Amino acid sequence: MAKPLSRQERRRQEKRARKAAKNPERVSVAEALGLAEQLYEKGELVQAADICKSVAKSAPKHFDAQQFHGILSAEMGRFETAIAAFETAAKIKPEDPSIHFNLANALDETGRWEDAEDEYGQALELKPRDPDTLVNLGIVKRKLGRLNDAIETFETAISLDDNSLLSQSNLGHAYLENSANEKAISCFRTAIALAPANLELHHTLTTALISVGDFGAAETACQKMIDLDPNNAKAHSQLGKVFQNLERSEESLEMFERAVALAPEDPELLIELGVALRADGQISKAIIKYEHALSLDADIGHAHYVLGNALSEYGKIAEAEQSYRKAVARLPEDPSTHNNLGITLIELGRKKEAEIALRTAIKFDPQHASSLFNLHAVVYQDDDLDPAIQALEAALEAKPGDAKWQFFHAMCLEQKGDDEAAIASFDKVPLDENGYNHWLDSWDYALRQIQQNSSIRVFGTGPETYAHAQEAAELDGLILEFGVRFGTSIRQIAAKTDGAVHGFDSFQGLPEAWQNNPVGEYTTYGELPEVPDNVKLHVGLFEETIPPFMNENAGPIRFMNVDCDIYSSTKTILDLLQERIVPGTTIAFDEYFCNPSWRFDEFKAFQEAVEHYGWTYDYLSFCPFARQAVVKISG
Ligand SMILES: C[S@@+](CC[C@H](N)C(=O)[O-])C[C@H]1O[C@@H](n2cnc3c(N)ncnc32)[C@H](O)[C@@H]1O
Repeated sequence: MAKPLSRQERRRQEKRARKAAKNPERVSVAEALGLAEQLYEKGELVQAADICKSVAKSAPKHFDAQQFHGILSAEMGRFETAIAAFETAAKIKPEDPSIHFNLANALDETGRWEDAEDEYGQALELKPRDPDTLVNLGIVKRKLGRLNDAIETFETAISLDDNSLLSQSNLGHAYLENSANEKAISCFRTAIALAPANLELHHTLTTALISVGDFGAAETACQKMIDLDPNNAKAHSQLGKVFQNLERSEESLEMFERAVALAPEDPELLIELGVALRADGQISKAIIKYEHALSLDADIGHAHYVLGNALSEYGKIAEAEQSYRKAVARLPEDPSTHNNLGITLIELGRKKEAEIALRTAIKFDPQHASSLFNLHAVVYQDDDLDPAIQALEAALEAKPGDAKWQFFHAMCLEQKGDDEAAIASFDKVPLDENGYNHWLDSWDYALRQIQQNSSIRVFGTGPETYAHAQEAAELDGLILEFGVRFGTSIRQIAAKTDGAVHGFDSFQGLPEAWQNNPVGEYTTYGELPEVPDNVKLHVGLFEETIPPFMNENAGPIRFMNVDCDIYSSTKTILDLLQERIVPGTTIAFDEYFCNPSWRFDEFKAFQEAVEHYGWTYDYLSFCPFARQAVVKISG
C-alpha cells in the first residue's frame, strides 16, 4: 500500500499533473514520465495514467512512454489499452525482453494464451533462462492444457531459482492435475517453507494429502492452519474431511459444525455438513442443511443433487424428483444427475420419462455404467429381451465384475432361451464360501414356477408389477397396503382405482432390525404423507390397527401390497387377516426374494401361512429388479 500524500504535496502534484496532461509538449517527456512515476509510486494511478496517455499520444515513438502507459493500463485492468501500448512499444524496441514479457502478461489476462505463449517465447529468446518468464510461460501452457509441457517449464524455472514461491506452487498444482500427488505434496511443502503463513498453500497441501490417503499428515496440516488462524472455517471443514476418512465421525461432525458456525453464510460448508450427517445416517438433518444451503444460494446444482439423493434415501421420492429436476437444470451435462433422476422416475412409475433421463446420462457419458444398468430395467420386456441384454452388456463392459449386473445378464439370456450364453454368464456370478448366491437361489425358485406356468410374467420395474397385479385383481373387496412410509406406492395404487385404499403404518420404521437396517429404519418420524382423497391411513403397529379396521370394514380382500419387509410384520398381517384372504385375493409382496435373507422374510411368512391355512395360490409375476412377487389365492 502506497503512503498517502500530504495535502500540500498532493495539491502541488495535481497542479503539475494538470499542466503536464494538458500541455505535455510544454514539459519534457522525461519530466512528465518522472512525474507519472512519482504519482504511481504514491498510488495515484489514475493521474499517473492520464499523464502517460497524453505523453504516449504526443510522443508515439517514445518507448518508455508507451511501456509505462501499458503498465499503468494493465494495473487498472484496462488490458486491451495495455496490449495496444505494449505492441507499439515492442515495435519501437523489439530487442527489449521486458516489453514482450509485459505484452505476454496482458495477453494472458485477456485469455489470448497462444499469443501470450509467443510473446514469452520472444522474451526468452532475448533473455534465455529467465525464471520469471519461464514460470509465466508454464502458467499459460497449463491453461492451454499442455500439462507435461507446463511441468517441464516450471521445473526449468525452479532449476534456475528454487526459491520462487510462484514456481513451486504452480508446479505443485500442475502435478496435482497430472495425478502426481506425491510430487505435488513435495512442492507444496517447499512453498510453505518459503511462505509459512500462506493459508492457501496449507489448504492445497491438505487436499493433496487427503487425496493420497495420508490422513495423519493431513490432520497435522489442518492443525497448523487452525493454529495460524483459529477462525478459519475452511481449515475446520478440511479437518472434518480428514476425520471422516479416519472414521472418527463424531469429531468429523464437530469440525463441520464449527466450520458452519465460523462462516454461517457459506452454502458449501452447509453442504459438506449435510454430506457428513448423511454419512452418519442422520438423513433428515442432512436434508435441513442442504435446504439451508439452497436458501442462501438456490443456484448450486450440486446442492440440489445431494438434496435429491438424501430425499430419495429418506423415501420422499416425489420431492427427490423436484430436486433432481432443479439439479439437471443447473448441471445439464452431468450424467449422475440424469441417472438419479431416471431412478426416481422408475420408482414413480414413469418409465418413458425415466428412459429419456437415462439415455441423456448415457449421451453425456456413454460409459456411465449405472445408467446403462438402470436402462436395462426400463427397456426390459419378458417377450423381447434383446434391448435389456444389450444394456446389461454395455453396463458390464463399462464396469466389469459387478456380481448383480452379471446375474441380471445371465437371467435375461436364460429367459431368452440362449442357454449356452446364459451358462457362460451365470458362471461369472460369484458364490460365497458356502457356494451360495441369493440372486441365483431366488431366480432358481422363480424360474421353476415360470416353467410350470407360462402365464407368469416377469417385469423390469416395481410400478409395472403393481399395475399388472391390480388389473389381475377382479374380486370385489378391500384394497390395502402395509408399509406406506412417504406414500410412493400407495399413491400409485390409489391412482388405479376409484375405490378406497387403506394404508397401514406406524410411521416409526421397522420394529426389528432387518439385514443391515437397524430398528426404526424407514421411519418418517411420525410424519404422515400427503395422499389422495381415496386413501385412508391407519396409524400404528399392524397388530393394533388391523383388529379395529376389521370390525369396521367387512368383506374380503381384493388386493393388498405387503411392503413391510420383515417376517414378523408379514406374519402378523397374514394371521390377522387370514379370514379375509379368500380365493381371488391378490397379494403383492415387495421384498419377497432376491435379498440375502429372502428365505427368512416375507417369503417365509407367506409359505408358512399357506401351509397353516391350507391356501392354494398361483404366482402372477416376479420382478427381480424390485424384488417383488405377486400371488393370487386360488383356494
Ligand atoms: C419399506 S417401507 C414402505 C415403503 C413404501 N411402500 C413406499 O412406497 O415407500 C416399510 C414400512 O413398513 C412399516 N412397518 C413395518 N413393520 C410394521 C409394523 N409391524 N407395524 C406398522 N408398520 C410397520 C415401517 O414403518 C415402514 O414405513
